[in-house]
Amino acid sequence: MIILAIESSCDDTGAALIEDGNRILSNILSSQDEVHKHYGGVVPELASRRHLESIVPVLRGALDQAHISLDQVDGVAVTRGPGLVGSLLVGIMAAKAIAHAKDLPLVGVNHLMGHLLAIFLEQEVAFPFIGMVASGGHTSLYLAEGFTAFRLLGRTRDDAAGEAFDKVAKYLGLGYPGGVAIEQLAKRGDPAAISFPRAYIAKDSLDFSFSGIKTAVVNHVRSHPPSNDGIADIAASFQEAVVDVLVDKIIWAARQHKVDRAVVAGGVASNNRLRERLMKAGERLGIQANFPSPFLCRDNAAMIGVAGYHLLKRGRRDGLDMSPLSRWPLDKD
Ligand code: KG4
Ligand code: ZN
Repeated sequence: MIILAIESSCDDTGAALIEDGNRILSNILSSQDEVHKHYGGVVPELASRRHLESIVPVLRGALDQAHISLDQVDGVAVTRGPGLVGSLLVGIMAAKAIAHAKDLPLVGVNHLMGHLLAIFLEQEVAFPFIGMVASGGHTSLYLAEGFTAFRLLGRTRDDAAGEAFDKVAKYLGLGYPGGVAIEQLAKRGDPAAISFPRAYIAKDSLDFSFSGIKTAVVNHVRSHPPSNDGIADIAASFQEAVVDVLVDKIIWAARQHKVDRAVVAGGVASNNRLRERLMKAGERLGIQANFPSPFLCRDNAAMIGVAGYHLLKRGRRDGLDMSPLSRWPLDKD
């Protein structure tokens, strides 16, 4: 079964062809970082306009790369939400047009489900597992019980982890998106130099809060204007504080739910400090930590194809009246 998948929920336009829910025939992504970096964040109006320009070339690129014609496609999957409505609409309209013209089944996919299933493009992971999505828009923990069965265990009460990386990077003048810039700079810094707050909220809570640490970084810089080396210490100490909380809560979730596997996805999952620390903690505690390759951690259409395959296989269909959803909790599917 070959699925044509489309992703346009935020600032990346993606199209992919996926066979049997686990094999990438093609996976094309057009990033808009060049557009939004001037503003230090995604500008919704510019994002939808750029999606409009990119969607047809990206779709054509995916079909060409896979050497597949639309006549060989068995179904169309598209991100329905959560995300920016103007951005989502572009992908959804393209998906509807193709499904209608070629008389193909259409399914709207929850973007978070896509992130959690991206790992299956590279390896099998047995259910149940603890799934974390840590990106620019989300920091959520799930109990994944099957390909279409996810239970929300905790989420951020304010900023997402990636958003904290982006805001701190912007404040330190490191550019956008900030995660990679902070990780690079942190390599030269001391993670124990500054003790930034770790927001655990309450004992055993699986919710997150990242707005306090951003304020703590701003206050620290105001009271101790840093030298060049000092900025690297701030980056390393900030990263360590975020990683500490993410690792601890993944482990807590695994223990609370008696699960010995975890999958971490979303842009922040490409952070090497997070990967090392979780792998090490997992080895010590008998919890297997799995991460998709960095390209599959970030937003992409291939992951939407995996989710779309499992939904279509279970008979899920959406009509041509499907609307975008700016909010769409995964466990209320
Ligand atoms: O999944 P993604 O590409 O898009 C969203 O759905 O948000 O995630 C982007 C986010 C950005 O906030 C970016 O700063 C963060 O992921 N990120 C990182 C790293 N690479 C990307 N955060 C920390 N370390 C990284 N290496
Ligand atoms: Zn995402």
